[in-house]
Amino acid sequence: MEKQVLPRREHFGSTLGIIAAAAGSAIGLGNIWRFPFITGVNGGAAFIIVYLVCIALIGLPVMLSEFIIGRSAQKNVIASFKTLAPGTPWYLVGWIGMASAFMILAFYGVVAGWTLEYILKAVANGFAGKSPNEIGALFGGFISSPMRPLFWQFVFMFLTGWIVYAGVIKGIERYSKILMPLLLILIIILDIRALTLPGASGGIAFLFKPDFSKLTALGFLSALGHAFFSLSLGMGVMITYGSYINKTENLGKTALQVTIADTAIALMAGLAIFPAVFAFSIEPSAGPGLVFVTLPNVFLQMPGGYFFCILFFVLLAIAALTSAISILEVVVAYISENFNVARHKATIAITIAITLLGIPCSLSMGVMGNVKFFGKTFFDLLDFTSSNILLIAGGFFMTLFVAWFLGHTRAQREASSDGQFPVTYFPWFMWAAKYLAPIAIFIVFLHGLGIIKV
Ligand code: TRP
Repeated sequence: MEKQVLPRREHFGSTLGIIAAAAGSAIGLGNIWRFPFITGVNGGAAFIIVYLVCIALIGLPVMLSEFIIGRSAQKNVIASFKTLAPGTPWYLVGWIGMASAFMILAFYGVVAGWTLEYILKAVANGFAGKSPNEIGALFGGFISSPMRPLFWQFVFMFLTGWIVYAGVIKGIERYSKILMPLLLILIIILDIRALTLPGASGGIAFLFKPDFSKLTALGFLSALGHAFFSLSLGMGVMITYGSYINKTENLGKTALQVTIADTAIALMAGLAIFPAVFAFSIEPSAGPGLVFVTLPNVFLQMPGGYFFCILFFVLLAIAALTSAISILEVVVAYISENFNVARHKATIAITIAITLLGIPCSLSMGVMGNVKFFGKTFFDLLDFTSSNILLIAGGFFMTLFVAWFLGHTRAQREASSDGQFPVTYFPWFMWAAKYLAPIAIFIVFLHGLGIIKV
């Protein structure tokens, strides 16, 4: 058993590898699928401003807190709390992370499955000659047809499980280093095409002219929830990955770089999508289908669009995969280490369980569309509960843990690798972790759920 546990506590090979793995986790469907569509639902620019404030003032401190916890404990998320705070109930925070991992990966696998279908559609030149409406209908028909989305969800979950099973962090490191920059280049090309479309200006105004009257209390909560979702925070991914980081690495810098990379990609995805949304008269609040309906139209308007379309969905699927494995890894690391179950057995069992949970998510786009829980479909219920409640609660307790339980001295020692890398923003970080982040989270949370009125 030890043999299986020990290699997992090996460390990432290089600084670039850590960034690739952490950024690979952060950058995913959240940036390219979820960010544009919830920005659309919440009215555009004003939402984006709140989102950026959440990233800077709350996201960054939570990320550094997670790194500090993981690297100092050198354990999975639950064991980290048990090691650093023995005999206290702090480990329950890890259980919040487990619950959110199950819920997020369940619906994440469904949407990632859609990207696989779209690769095939792109290869078959399935969008050629279609109007924006027809491309919309194509998407609607696909996600509501019961079997095809399920098939692709299974394929994607199999791939996710397979990579985690093989434990090829090295492989992921290696591929992420090549594929993530490629994704960036492709998005830049898409940005240029989208911004020069006739009629793009409506989209630019939507992105940059804030109208705060459109922002509801729930909009604030969604912005915060999405900041957590996009940066992979509040679940323990960064605790788990932090435990694989060497002491010779600069945690403060890593957290900053990952945060900036993730945010840049999200904004660039927005820039590629909204001008096109307006140019093709698609409803900005169209919801989860936004990217799948908008971008094929952009590709149709581009020289070489056929190839770019294939390339885009391939890269999106890969971005989704590097994120999905980080979620699965959180659960696998815990189950295998804590219950002394062989890693590969744990991987198989957990992958199957999460895939099963994903089935009703997928079906809720069609045959189960009328089955509502608290007014939400099963898909929306899992998304809402995990992003807007569990991740936020997890992040809340993680910052409190670092700021108030570990305290200034221990946190600083870990963040700076015993003084090797003085984190320039450490004093600000401590203040944010102690007061700003928890208080802001608390208010946005209760306000968003309608528990308090501010
Ligand atoms: N951040 C990823 C994305 O944007 C999704 C993700 C991976 C995630 N790991 C996570 C979300 C942990 C929340 C928590 O697509």
